Amino acid sequence: MAPSPKPAILFVCLGNICRSPTAEGVFRQLLRNEGVEGDFEVDSAGTGGWHAGASPDPRMAAAAAAMGFTLSGQARQVTADDYDRFDHILAMDRDNLETLLSRAPAHRHHKIRLFREHDPENPGEDTPDPYYGGPEGFQEVVRIAERTARRLLHELRSSA
Ligand code: 4NP
Repeated sequence: MAPSPKPAILFVCLGNICRSPTAEGVFRQLLRNEGVEGDFEVDSAGTGGWHAGASPDPRMAAAAAAMGFTLSGQARQVTADDYDRFDHILAMDRDNLETLLSRAPAHRHHKIRLFREHDPENPGEDTPDPYYGGPEGFQEVVRIAERTARRLLHELRSSA
């Protein structure tokens, strides 16, 4: 597929049912709030394909909804085409980052970085995997996604 004519952002976690759909949903909401949803292409994917076709995890969707964010879409695995199509490929943790770097051609590595490089509170941290934990882990993912996506959007708009 041809590269997108607008800045294209892909959020990536392991399963694409918890963390990356949250980052995607929060980022989309921020775009809507600012009236610029047409200016970016946004998607999310997983390094693993086990949950392909699944909706966001209901525990994650509930935590997001409680904070005003709607999660949507079906899980999919990252494809080779994604490294061409997206301009910013943002990994939710270091495992995801290393997997992406190990699979992407070297000339695409500059697009791949950690989502939380943009976190204004704790830059460079992993987004903890909430899958095997309790509700507070899901709430924490939404809080991280909200402040980090907000800063990310600001940075993307000021560099455009
Ligand atoms: P995600 O969370 O990577 O944030 O979507 C996970 C989803 C599923 C599994 C692990 C993490 N799993 O082991 O199935």
